[in-house]
Amino acid sequence: MPLTLKEAKKRIQKLREDVVFHEKKYYIENDPQISDYEFDMLIKELINLERQFPELITPESPTQRVGEQPLEGFASVEHSTPMLSLDNCYTMEELREFEERIRKIIPTEKIAYVAELKIDGLGISVIYRDGKFAQAITRGDGLRGDDVTANVKTIRSFPLAIPQSGELEVRGEIYLPFPSFRKINRRRENEDLPLFVNPRNAAAGSIRLLDPKEVAARMLDVFLYTLFVEGEEKESQWQNLQTMKKLGLKINPHSRRCSSLDAVISYYREWKERRDALDYDVDGIVIKVDSVEQQRLLGSTAKFPRWAISFKFPARQATTRIKDIVVQVGRTGALTPVAVLEPVKLSGTTISRSTLHNEDEIRRKDIRVGDFVLIERSGDVIPKVVLVMKEKRTGREIPFAFPKICPVCHTEVFRPEDEAVSRCINPSCPAKLKESLLHYSSRRAMNIETLGVALVNQLLEKHLVQTIPDLYALSYEDLVNLDRMGPKSSQNLLDEIEKSKVMDLDRLIYALGIRFVGERTAQAIASHFRDLDSLSKAPPEELIQIEDVGPKVAESIVFFFHQPKNTTLLDKLREVGVNSFSQAEASSEEGPLSGQTFVLTGKLAQFSREEARKEIEQRGGTVTSTVSRKTDYVIAGAEPGAKLEKAQKLGVPVLDEKNFLALISF
Ligand code: IVH
Repeated sequence: MPLTLKEAKKRIQKLREDVVFHEKKYYIENDPQISDYEFDMLIKELINLERQFPELITPESPTQRVGEQPLEGFASVEHSTPMLSLDNCYTMEELREFEERIRKIIPTEKIAYVAELKIDGLGISVIYRDGKFAQAITRGDGLRGDDVTANVKTIRSFPLAIPQSGELEVRGEIYLPFPSFRKINRRRENEDLPLFVNPRNAAAGSIRLLDPKEVAARMLDVFLYTLFVEGEEKESQWQNLQTMKKLGLKINPHSRRCSSLDAVISYYREWKERRDALDYDVDGIVIKVDSVEQQRLLGSTAKFPRWAISFKFPARQATTRIKDIVVQVGRTGALTPVAVLEPVKLSGTTISRSTLHNEDEIRRKDIRVGDFVLIERSGDVIPKVVLVMKEKRTGREIPFAFPKICPVCHTEVFRPEDEAVSRCINPSCPAKLKESLLHYSSRRAMNIETLGVALVNQLLEKHLVQTIPDLYALSYEDLVNLDRMGPKSSQNLLDEIEKSKVMDLDRLIYALGIRFVGERTAQAIASHFRDLDSLSKAPPEELIQIEDVGPKVAESIVFFFHQPKNTTLLDKLREVGVNSFSQAEASSEEGPLSGQTFVLTGKLAQFSREEARKEIEQRGGTVTSTVSRKTDYVIAGAEPGAKLEKAQKLGVPVLDEKNFLALISF
């Protein structure tokens, strides 16, 4: 029964309250009360209701974070008061000098401080008007910044509404947590895009994207540290932090009120050691005079306030020697030079390798084998060579000649004029095969987890596997005699390989390792096509209709499916029973379900997936792995996955097990 307008209003109100409550628990207080799935269901219900009753949508609804339209650019906006920068210091002595400068201006009073972590992100100013998120401006040159409201609104740690009338401005730091940074770079690597060097660059790049939907996917976060409220002034920085917290604005939980400079020094020492345990990058601490009255007395220079300073942590750098430079060959044939280092300790871990990125980077920095180099680790990012210590050269260092042939298969390498990367052009290069196998079986692709590097090496050495489909011909006897394989692990691997045959289409598309096709693109492609056959025949014009697929990606897909080597690969995968291919033969049986397409998700009590599939196919129906508008029914068992959500989004009817039984009982 559809809801009346009045009922819908009530339900929408309740859903919004619940969503806002759980967003606060999850994003601000780091204390989730319900599962992600339950939370998603609340959002879904709200979206559905708002779709039915668009007149009830308000800008503060939690569904309105992400605008539909990409932006044209960013308007330049003046800050209410300049966003100053901070003076820096690096030693205890310099810190004491900071206090002495303060004492000269305020000689008689006791000075208390607030010590905060210095978050390595980008400064932002956000204005709330009458309790509503109104505008977000980047720091810019301190006087003017860019209006990035639509993008910042996607950050879930910002409440869209707060209990405060009038105008309120908060300032803070937008940052990218390490797990999100790793995720973004993993995706970029899969899509063959250049990687972000560190989380700050990734955050800065993300906030300047023109499509808020893409920004939302970047999972940025924020810590706020400055508060201005129209007509109200709190007494101290500490009170400001507590007020922000009460208003539901996200502050860093590790700030500390310090009654003396010695207490500040203890805070510094403590966090110099503990910073590696945080899941975001901090490059020092910020010390602020707590009293607002004292801050006013101290005032500012043109650039910095005199009441605050940052005390930087030592850079995570070390010097070591390059013993060798080796070249690795990736799945796409890309050659990456890697420095083999004399092992050195750097913030708790021993570093023995460092990527040198590409040929140009080696030339630019003039890196030679035997050189002493300064390496640096920012956050938990892979260490990089900052510079060569040329003064330490003996004359025996050897310049590196970038190989003209693949170090693994000795085929010629090719470097397009406009690219920095050289690639091995041999389609059957064993290095490519090894990486392709590892990619195919990886958790997010076909999930054959037992197949690790050591095992793949053995399978290749013993010629048990020469192409991906050979995995499906492996026998128990082939496996059980390999190093570190026993009866149980062999059987596990065979089971995982078998299970991969019914893996969803999106995962198979991703697993094929088509250039520029990462997980997200694979999902978008899979929801457009019923099976791999239709995808393989799709012309570029059809492909570019898909979200996430531009001309470059479309061209790469078409190129992939036209290579004879890949046609053979797909034929073989079909032969061995990987079932994301057209099920035309199976569904040619005539029956009550003829012409109807089903997708299965979750666990059914009475059938395994395969049994359910057979029941449908015997009655003439077709089972596919991806929900699209062409799907007739989704059958959802217990713990259904994202397919259920997708079905609800697309309005595809969903049957539970009881309804499914009724359907096949005819
Ligand atoms: S206070 C007038 N507090 O560091 C006071 N800044 O190098 C201005 N930053 O521009 C800033 N964490 O973007 C403050 N806890 C913190 C901070 C912080 C990071 C950034 C901020 C500032 C830059 C100065």
